[in-house]
Amino acid sequence: MKSLAGKRIVLGVSGGIAAYKAIELCRRLVDAGAHVVPVLTKGATRFVGRATFDALASERTQMSLFEEDDPIPHTTLGQTADCIVVAPATARVIGAYAAGISSDLLTATLIATRSPVVICPAMHTEMWEHPAVADNIATLIERGVHIVGPESGRLAGGDEGAGRLSSPADIVDAVIRAVGAASERQDMDGLSVVVTAGGTREPIDPVRFIGNHSSGKQGYAFADEAAGRGAEVTIVSTVDRPVPSGAAMVPGITVLRVDTAEEMAEATAEAAAEADVVIMAAAVADFRPVDPAGVKLKKRDGVPAIELEPTPDILAALGASKPEGQILVGFAAETCDVADNAAAKLNGKGADYIVANDVTAENAGFAYDTNEVLVLASDGRIHPVGLRSKRQVAQAVLDLVVADRDARASNQENQ
Ligand code: PMT
Repeated sequence: MKSLAGKRIVLGVSGGIAAYKAIELCRRLVDAGAHVVPVLTKGATRFVGRATFDALASERTQMSLFEEDDPIPHTTLGQTADCIVVAPATARVIGAYAAGISSDLLTATLIATRSPVVICPAMHTEMWEHPAVADNIATLIERGVHIVGPESGRLAGGDEGAGRLSSPADIVDAVIRAVGAASERQDMDGLSVVVTAGGTREPIDPVRFIGNHSSGKQGYAFADEAAGRGAEVTIVSTVDRPVPSGAAMVPGITVLRVDTAEEMAEATAEAAAEADVVIMAAAVADFRPVDPAGVKLKKRDGVPAIELEPTPDILAALGASKPEGQILVGFAAETCDVADNAAAKLNGKGADYIVANDVTAENAGFAYDTNEVLVLASDGRIHPVGLRSKRQVAQAVLDLVVADRDARASNQENQ
């Protein structure tokens, strides 16, 4: 069965250059089985024509609060939609929606719905980074609205930066997730999940550190996926949320910012004490300078001899003090003998799963939007997860975790 079969999707299009991509999005939503009703703002029609949407969508395009056959088109649209997706969403539409202002059919429909809403911002970087827009986005996230993108890349006028509309494929995925989350059982509902993300930074002096290439994308993908499935998530991270392509920002995530392995160890231990699931996706430094210099080291003083000491092994400590029923997932970033090295970590660190990451593989590992892993389970099974988005990798790993919890619960019942 098609993933959006029987679902009524209102496709809102507002006035930005990326409106041309909404045509492809409309076609893909229809291909996914959705009944698509386009709603265009006046601004949108400066970039795309309603005739195109009339031809591709399941119903004719609507544009006005007052000139449709229905005397109350916004409430009919809002009440009957299974999901409203706005792509592109301009700063104006985002601002109006956040403030509850219903000045046209699209913004009125957004306010007249209780269905999930997916907002896909697209605008110039200066606008996207303006504090007013950032505040409005934060307000919408707090209210449970799904935000997809924007991506970084080429913008109108040849500029480069954050603000490009996410791809139609990623937006369709987000709509499927939003509709699914609203209609299906949330299989992590009520669970407390702790995720670590990013690379730790071990200071050499006030301006230099020992670090690594971790972007935090894999960790945030776990946080988003778990929160999307109903979990309360704490992410202990060395980086702010990266802007990976198509990542949906979802509510239910608390971010604890840290820098060093020591700080990550402290914050994680505290958060993990009561957690049901812990995911150690961070790249934690194994060594740190014993005595970081208080002032910047000078070249003229020669090459410094930096004495190193081991950092706390966070995963091993969590494995040693794991509360009953908690599921602990570690990672292994490897460059050779991936399965053997990961198996050694699984046995040595007391984890229930190790996600083995060959960081030399193409399009996988550090900083990519995609990943390819082997999941080693403590029962000896190995689950390969082929190249896919980091969100989908997180989904595959969490599917194993949820199935494991269900199996443990039914074993207990049968005892
Ligand atoms: O952040 P991205 O750019 O998206 O990249 C993702 C990733 C490649 C960083 C991620 O997928 C990954 O592989 N993370 C683990 C990196 C790592 O530190 O691997 P490791 O093999 O050195 O460590 C094994 C496990 O022990 C890891 O779960 C690590 O978090 C943990 N560890 C390591 C050292 C230490 N002192 N304490 C730890 O807890």
